[in-house]
Amino acid sequence: MKELNLVCTKCGIVHSIKSTYFRCQSCGEPTEVEKIEHGKIKTKNPLRQNIMERYQEFLPFKEIDSALSLGEGFTPLVKGYKTSKALELNDVYFKNESQNPTWSFKDRGTLLGIQHALKLGYKRIGTVSTGNMAVSVAAYGSKAGFETFIFVKNDLAPEKLNPIAIYNPHLIKVDGDYGKLYFKSLEIGNKNDIYFINSDVPFRVEGSKTIAYEICEQLNFDMPDYVIVPTSAGGNIRGIIKGFDEFKSAGLINKIPRIVCAQASGCSPITNGFIKNHKSIERIENPQTIAHGIENPFPPSGNEVLRQLEEKNGLCISVDDESILKAQKLLASDGIFGQPASAVPVAAIEKLKKQKILKGDEKIVCIVTGSGLKYTAAFERHNLRHYNTTIDDLEKFVADKF
Ligand SMILES: Cc1ncc(COP(=O)(O)O)c(C=O)c1O
Ligand SMILES: [Zn+2]
Repeated sequence: MKELNLVCTKCGIVHSIKSTYFRCQSCGEPTEVEKIEHGKIKTKNPLRQNIMERYQEFLPFKEIDSALSLGEGFTPLVKGYKTSKALELNDVYFKNESQNPTWSFKDRGTLLGIQHALKLGYKRIGTVSTGNMAVSVAAYGSKAGFETFIFVKNDLAPEKLNPIAIYNPHLIKVDGDYGKLYFKSLEIGNKNDIYFINSDVPFRVEGSKTIAYEICEQLNFDMPDYVIVPTSAGGNIRGIIKGFDEFKSAGLINKIPRIVCAQASGCSPITNGFIKNHKSIERIENPQTIAHGIENPFPPSGNEVLRQLEEKNGLCISVDDESILKAQKLLASDGIFGQPASAVPVAAIEKLKKQKILKGDEKIVCIVTGSGLKYTAAFERHNLRHYNTTIDDLEKFVADKF
């Protein structure tokens, strides 16, 4: 495989892959690994492969260190019978990313990020996160023996803080604008030899490509009509689009599904830009949504997501908190407990159906990005019930009550 470079997503200027130029040195937009035009899936026993081994020809690594893997990816694609029926659709599928080692899709990109960091000789890695990415980088950093720096928001709840702290990173709560922290960390990383695996850096995007690859394989290359992705920084959706694109170039699929970028109404900078037909996003001043996982007020890949949606005829939609909570219950009726951010695609389907963009006969894949157990505060927003009785009364209670 030829050596691939990092290319600016906007102006196309080339940067060395041996660098950590994650933003273009000329225009400031995100860089990405050059697109791979030809490749093949390594069709060995998938039970004995990790994602880097199976999709190596689509990834920028000649050599891979499988000892870094925690068994990420190869997550289930489950048909949502109840959701399909409730929303009057034939075929709704859930790509259940809560089945990853740290219970979210982030593990795919973390693995590829640390593979790159190791290749460049780094001993320190870091990230800026509100939760899922922090947990993921802390876990993989610990396993691989990196000195790991995690910057989180000052007001992060203990239920989110301790699952990061358990892996023993340098965990630092930072008071200040979360949007600025992303850029600040890249600066700190350059000065202190810390490889920051932030939300949309090129190797995180490479990791998300494998979600698209797996969907293709799981549907036997019979492509869905829509793939709906809850979006914040924009790294995941970029990777998914790139993955489908590369499989199409390789001749493995003949169409790319229509991609829907789904956001929460309380923080929807990309949807706002999309609706106004703008080329760049504007910062949201007071973001507020139950879907905390997708609450980035100034997504670093927002402009690139707008470019991709325009080029690929994608869609962008935002949904309110009430519909997100309703969707979380609907998802649970199909046996999957996703966090509010992960229920956003289901709420998006309902809205697209009301708007008559969806007719009912489409095949739709929702990316369920992370586990519901990550955000137990959402329980308070549901009217969850249980009963009490004694062991002596239990038999009668069950007979009388149900
Ligand atoms: C659960 C969940 N869903 C979706 C996203 C959005 O991914 P991205 O920031 O790559 O757009 C995140 C990111 O933090 C997340 O934690
Ligand atoms: Zn550029």
